[in-house]
Amino acid sequence: MKSLSLLAGTAVLAVATIATAHADEDMHPTVVARHAQMQLYAYNVGILGGMAQGKIDYDAEAAQTAADNMVALTSMNTASFWPEGTAEGTKAQPAIWENLDDFMSKGEDLAFEAQGMADVAGNDLASLQGAMGNLGGTCSACHREYRAR
Ligand code: HEC
Repeated sequence: MKSLSLLAGTAVLAVATIATAHADEDMHPTVVARHAQMQLYAYNVGILGGMAQGKIDYDAEAAQTAADNMVALTSMNTASFWPEGTAEGTKAQPAIWENLDDFMSKGEDLAFEAQGMADVAGNDLASLQGAMGNLGGTCSACHREYRAR
């Protein structure tokens, strides 16, 4: 009986580990941080992209807020989120550390386009749509080279 309840306890633990595997102590804190950063990008760009595509009604205030958030997020110094040796088990490509200057400059491209979006997002839908391609393009440009599929 004793070994049975021990087994059951182990099973519960295993389930709990799987459930929290995405953001717990198994992951290097810098990996958790950069995933959180990317998720915040995706959330805000998702609002802008949804409006650009007509999936979300255009709302000048909400668009401006999402764009301003992108400016705030891209103004953080996130260099410490990408220490060498943290690619394993993630989608970060080792090429990042062979071309660190290029990688960081792709982050700067995103910051530049986020500002471009913030300059016009609150004007009208057409202005938002005009800035969307450049903004989204900077996400894909970096993912294409530095994120595993
Ligand atoms: C400078 C390069 C770069 C830029 C710019 C960039 N990303 Fe990423 N992104 C990455 C890398 C590398 C990964 C994989 C990180 C990992 O697995 O540790 C990633 C992962 C992600 C993920 C998955 C996060 C997770 O929880 O696993 C999302 C979502 C994402 N990016 C969205 C975006 C969006 C949206 C943009 C543009 C607004 C963007 N990214 C711009 C490099 C970039």
